Amino acid sequence: MRRRTLLAAPLLAGTGALAACDERSAADPLEAPTAAPAARSAAVPALRALAPFPVGTEVLTSDLDSAVGELAARQFSQVTAGFEMKMEVVLRPDGSRNFGPGDRIAAWARANRQRLHGHCLVWYAQDAAAFRALEGRPREFTAAYDRYIVELMRRWPAAGWDVVNEPIDDAEGALRPSLWASVLGPEAYMVRAFQQARAADPRALLILNEYGLETKPAKRLAFLKLVERLLKLGAPITGLGTQCHIDVDLPAGAGAAMMADLARLDLPIHVSELDVSLKPRALTLRSRAATMERQAARYAELLDAFAKLPARQRYAFTVWGVRDDSSWLNSPGEYAGRDAPLLFDAQGAPKDAFWALARRLGG
Ligand code: G3I
Repeated sequence: MRRRTLLAAPLLAGTGALAACDERSAADPLEAPTAAPAARSAAVPALRALAPFPVGTEVLTSDLDSAVGELAARQFSQVTAGFEMKMEVVLRPDGSRNFGPGDRIAAWARANRQRLHGHCLVWYAQDAAAFRALEGRPREFTAAYDRYIVELMRRWPAAGWDVVNEPIDDAEGALRPSLWASVLGPEAYMVRAFQQARAADPRALLILNEYGLETKPAKRLAFLKLVERLLKLGAPITGLGTQCHIDVDLPAGAGAAMMADLARLDLPIHVSELDVSLKPRALTLRSRAATMERQAARYAELLDAFAKLPARQRYAFTVWGVRDDSSWLNSPGEYAGRDAPLLFDAQGAPKDAFWALARRLGG
């Protein structure tokens, strides 16, 4: 996913309506705790016990032996490794494998009776020196490509794998250029990846995973057309991943519209990386309470749309992280601790968004 570029929300110029915009109060998760109202101080229900489908989260090895890990184990029935099963960790420059971090997460998931979701095999954003070294030798490159896919899927048997991640660019929905596309062909690299994945594990759901499908209708259409084209070319795609990295200003109805379009392909759907950013750099007139409510409404709309799918199309509903402080959005390269995109605040207390989901799931 490209780094988010944030346009400040348009100001209400000319009406003098600009109240004092306290950017910090609307956006600082560490200074304005979202303690659950007294009425909710009762025991916090576990989403994994309420939901009739897998509810997932993203974890890092650094989360596992901490309060974040405990909350992840209690609340979620599926986990995705944030980066430990990606090429950036697994494939050393000399081509040797570093399976240790991924093994830890796979073992932790098993110990907590959670499904594992594999993420991700082929991604434009990570092409690894070991593959770049083979760029001029297509036969060896192809053999290494096939071997990598089969090896990871057999090392970490999972309910499903993101076989190809983010194949479409953000502009007009064209296929992204990548090392894989240049050596194997812009569509052939995807067909091959899915065919190798199927050979590796006949049972895993094989997913094409993408972001921006709820905010960019042109990208969504390109995604759907790509899936249809790849299926015709013989790619055994058996699931669709819609990442849902959205923000609090996503118009009501956009999430549901996206889900309805994806559902038309009649394949299982993974809401794969849901978080709802508060856009901490944007100026806003909203109070913190109103912002929390709007965030909850975005989460709830996607859960409602997902829950309405036929059971055969509900692969999993995954949020991308457990507590606000553990979100990728609060890494130094993004908002550095000023966002609050998840279901639990930095103290592990459930937020309005959590209660909105729990209520809908009968909690
Ligand atoms: O844990 C190490 C730390 O020890 C080290 O000091 C630090 C600096 O080198 O790196 C830390 O690892 C980083 C890791 O995140 C944990 O913070 C990796 O360098 C960094 O590459 C990794 O970034 C991940 C990113 O994908 C790239 O793999 C993020 O956690 C993860 O949330 C993000 O997830 C992506 C999905 O895979 C695809 N969709 C978009 C989503 C958000 O970008």
